[in-house]
Amino acid sequence: MTHAPHARPLILGIETSCDETAAAVVGDGTHVYSNVIATQHDLHSRYGGVVPEIASRAHLERIVPVVRDALGEAGATFDDLDAIAVAHRPGLIGSLLVGTSAAKALAWSRGLKLIGVDHIVAHLHACHLGAGPDAGETTGQPNPALGLVVSGGHTSLFRVHGPLDVEVIGRTIDDAVGEAYDKAAVILGLGYPGGPAVDRLAAAGDDHAHDLPVSRLGRESLDFSFSGLKTALLYKVCGQPLGSGKQFERDGSALTDRQRADFAASFQRAAVTALMVKVNRALDRFDADTLLVGGGVSANSRLRSELDALARARNITVRLPAPEHCLDNAAMIAGLAAARYRAGMFDDWTLTASTRSGVATGRVAV
Ligand code: KG4
Ligand code: ZN
Repeated sequence: MTHAPHARPLILGIETSCDETAAAVVGDGTHVYSNVIATQHDLHSRYGGVVPEIASRAHLERIVPVVRDALGEAGATFDDLDAIAVAHRPGLIGSLLVGTSAAKALAWSRGLKLIGVDHIVAHLHACHLGAGPDAGETTGQPNPALGLVVSGGHTSLFRVHGPLDVEVIGRTIDDAVGEAYDKAAVILGLGYPGGPAVDRLAAAGDDHAHDLPVSRLGRESLDFSFSGLKTALLYKVCGQPLGSGKQFERDGSALTDRQRADFAASFQRAAVTALMVKVNRALDRFDADTLLVGGGVSANSRLRSELDALARARNITVRLPAPEHCLDNAAMIAGLAAARYRAGMFDDWTLTASTRSGVATGRVAV
């Protein structure tokens, strides 16, 4: 069987920033030929969160077979590639080091270009991935797009001047929205990772059963805050803290299924409303025709339907990633790397892993 030639540049992406070991082959920034993700949820679930040392070790064990699978599924070999891209920031340092070292070693030994990518900016690129009519970058529009990244580690609003030129206009001052979802799941006894479980359960609950706080911050603020919501849920479910502050009057185990669903739905209403308030404020302030959304929480059913309604009400385009590109994946890494490839922005062997994003504040070229 003969295959159509791959679109170029053909890039192998590697993603190991947290607890997914992922590799993907993407052509011309948007054509996803393979997208392999080995999750480690089974290893971390009993701890209720990611254990960094376990994550690094698991990445080491999985990285070679995952890369091999990604090339195999794409029908490509190292000789077909133009570059190897890696998420080298932000994330858990031990995890990032595995991916960064693997990418450097593979690129060096195969004589390929090396491209380091910021994981947060890559989440914004995820909505351009795919083979459908919707795929491709938004170009030629008069106004910069707005961007919303909602993940386990970040909650930020951007003006997207170009794929490699983003400006932070709002960010969380405490917890990320995904982190709040994961904590809510622990409080409600739903296990890890919590976001999908809370989302599923919310569908069966009354979202007005409890009045949980929606953070707005100052009237002009585009920043987010989720720690108050998390604490409010904890106190409503478990009662007041006793003595040391670690013990509570009761725990979530006494809840009925109905009560649990009502808490999940009420939490979800508050969390998504807090996001939508800031998205609306940003759209009021900046002329934008397009909103790009990415990160694990962009899989959330309520957020997706509220964003759909927003698109219609404001007559703007909202671009959401396909479900498989919401959570951490390497296709978004290889996809964004195509923009750096075209700009001739390559890295050398001094590329290092970093816990911090390159887009924490202000306008930056990435
Ligand atoms: O982007 P991501 O895979 O990893 C980070 O970069 O952090 O996001 C993971 C986060 C987790 O907190 C997870 O609970 C949350 O995304 N998440 C969701 C849903 N699916 C994943 N949160 C709410 N609703 C969902 N359906
Ligand atoms: Zn992520």
